[in-house]
Amino acid sequence: MNAADPQSRVLSGMRPTGQLHLGHYHGVLKNWLTLQHEYECFFFVADWHALTTHYDETSLIQEHALDMVIDWLAVGINPGQATLFVQSRVPEHAELHLLLSMMTPQSWLERVPTYKDQQEKLKERDLATYGFLGYPLLQSADILAYRAGLVPVAADQEAHLEITREVARRFNHIYGREPGFEQNAEQAINKMGRKQAKLYRSLRKSYQEAGDLEALETARALLREQQNITLGDQERLQGYLEGTGKVILPEPLALLAPQEKLLGLDGQKMSKSRGNDIALRDDTDTIANKIKRMPTDPARIRRTDPGEPEKCPVWSFHKVYSDEKQQAWVCDGCRTASIGCLECKAPVIEAIEEEIAPIRLRAEELQANPDEVSNILAEGCERAGDEAGETLREVREAMGLGWR
Ligand code: TRP
Ligand code: SF4
Repeated sequence: MNAADPQSRVLSGMRPTGQLHLGHYHGVLKNWLTLQHEYECFFFVADWHALTTHYDETSLIQEHALDMVIDWLAVGINPGQATLFVQSRVPEHAELHLLLSMMTPQSWLERVPTYKDQQEKLKERDLATYGFLGYPLLQSADILAYRAGLVPVAADQEAHLEITREVARRFNHIYGREPGFEQNAEQAINKMGRKQAKLYRSLRKSYQEAGDLEALETARALLREQQNITLGDQERLQGYLEGTGKVILPEPLALLAPQEKLLGLDGQKMSKSRGNDIALRDDTDTIANKIKRMPTDPARIRRTDPGEPEKCPVWSFHKVYSDEKQQAWVCDGCRTASIGCLECKAPVIEAIEEEIAPIRLRAEELQANPDEVSNILAEGCERAGDEAGETLREVREAMGLGWR
């Protein structure tokens, strides 16, 4: 894996909501667990983002952040594989946000769909602030500070990735035009060695003169493999290849999370504020009671009344937790009234308990060892700061602010 290859770097953030629930686990964290094996991952607590909507409710931010990180660790996010950090402890995010804000048209932010949507939906909140308008740009800075190539997000965040790409493109266009760009690029080509240089030149020609996209891809891969040239030269040659300036901030792609698999106890989206969630740290009795109290198909008034799984929120749990055979048992038993709802719920209670038990245990251990969590975060913040610091050095330089 090449760290300079933006395609190999994943970054994602979560607002500090406190303890997580099964919806987070199945919708987000399981995806992170897979990604941490395949890519260089950065996962962070987006605490400044919490302020964009809740600037007047800050007393619990740190507690919520720690609880959330405990749950990340408890499900198996591995600080040896992924860098875990807190946004506000890496001030480079703020600096990049500020610098990008200078060149981002205000209308781009006003046009982001979540801007008006959230203002309509969260009527009780004051969202008429400068910070809330700038929130997608802060997210852009989060991503671009690490030159991440892949960003796992929910579908409603896709527009934020779109604006991130536009901002990166605009930045590269304005600031990638260093004086003597062509000369520098030609010099960098020569540093690749005779054979590779010749290959790069011929691929560039095929792309620029004949629009050969395969040649473009091959040339990009060739650049990523180069060990002899600096990151700056790699960016130059990428821009030279594509006919732009230096690519200082690469454009990231959204990695859309699969559709919400697990619904809440009432069949709506699972969320703590709705009170329809099962927390990752719920104890055995709480889990059993929550499932036992779950509403079922209202047609099943008496035990002898048949029902329809598609009309029952318990079914969404069976779809996640039961194998085909058990699912057939549910459908059949429900439609013929040969099983009762409590009977139907029993294997779900068992499966959730089995899934949660080790997570709960690990979370308890971490809770009893707050130093372990702080150390992981301190280390992660430092590593993140190093990475973001490198990007910021280049950004400042490109903008004519390379004082130090
Ligand atoms: N805006 C995201 C959310 O509300 C959280 C977030 C902040 C994020 N910065 C990010 C996600 C950068 C991915 C990348 O869910
Ligand atoms: Fe729901 Fe199962 Fe009862 Fe059918 S039998 S209504 S699927 S709980």
